[in-house]
Amino acid sequence: MLRSIALALSVAAVAGSSLAADAERGARIFRSCSSCHIVDDTRSTFGPSLKGVVGRQAGAMADYVYSPALKSAGEKGLIWDERELAEFLASPSKKVPGTKMRFWGLWSFEIEDVIAFLKANP
Ligand code: HEC
Repeated sequence: MLRSIALALSVAAVAGSSLAADAERGARIFRSCSSCHIVDDTRSTFGPSLKGVVGRQAGAMADYVYSPALKSAGEKGLIWDERELAEFLASPSKKVPGTKMRFWGLWSFEIEDVIAFLKANP
């Protein structure tokens, strides 16, 4: 009986901790992005630099060769605000058909955390 109460409490604690976006958790989640992106410099690597990406026009890093799809999405007015980023990270090729970013599979709370982390790296 006591054990099941303890279990219920720890489950509640985990659920509670995912309610607010958390940049520190986002930093850990960002490790799965860092094979292709850096966030502490504007230098692009395998993917474009994500320093200051929140609020930036899509496809806007001058030193990076984007897919035509992402480049033109930006030219048509796609700005990476939180909602657009969340949709992109949930499914890059659904949001921008033809993008060359091949990465998906984050939980929605992980997406919120990683966006909080990106916001903390302007
Ligand atoms: C396997 C490599 C890879 C991984 C892992 C990856 N990306 Fe990307 N990402 C790319 C590439 C390549 C592009 C450029 C896409 C294009 O030009 O269509 C990109 C583009 C982006 C863009 C658009 C940037 C811009 O300047 O318009 C964002 C935002 C982004 N990635 C976020 C992330 C985040 C956050 C993660 C981790 C959750 C992540 N990516 C993981 C390769 C990756």
